[in-house]
Amino acid sequence: MRARPPNQATLYLRRAGVALACVAALAGCEGERQSVVPGGDIEQGLRLVTQYQCGACHVIPGVQGAAGDEGPALDYIGRLSYIAGGIPNSPGNMVRWLRVPHAVKPGTEMPPMGLTEQEARHMAAYLYTLR
Ligand code: HEC
Repeated sequence: MRARPPNQATLYLRRAGVALACVAALAGCEGERQSVVPGGDIEQGLRLVTQYQCGACHVIPGVQGAAGDEGPALDYIGRLSYIAGGIPNSPGNMVRWLRVPHAVKPGTEMPPMGLTEQEARHMAAYLYTLR
């Protein structure tokens, strides 16, 4: 017996195997969205943003009833280069901004909401999904 070259059917099965592996990899990424904020959890962030009623002053996609207009809409906050009119939009700055806005920008009208560092991290994780 000599080895035969692979026929059409085996080639098809090999391709299908490769395709399935890709689909599985993609599904993995979709299922668990990775946060760009160290220690921040996107789902918890959404819950907290809702609970603290940030939507009283902001339009926030994905947050029910968040339609306030005292502050800027947060639709594309994950894409902006600067927040609050001039602060570089990095995870560290965002977490600090959420906790103590007045310390980041004296005189700002955004009030401190009494967030813990951890809560602010979760919230920032959610906000960065808005792009
Ligand atoms: C009382 C109204 C009010 C509440 C409540 C409030 N904000 Fe704000 N927020 C503002 C205002 C006003 C600004 C603009 C501040 C500035 O530029 O000085 C702002 C700015 C921001 C920015 C920067 C936006 C940009 O485009 O630069 C983010 C992010 C943000 N707020 C998130 C939150 C989150 C999250 C909460 C809930 C924990 C929250 N805010 C609660 C009024 C509010």
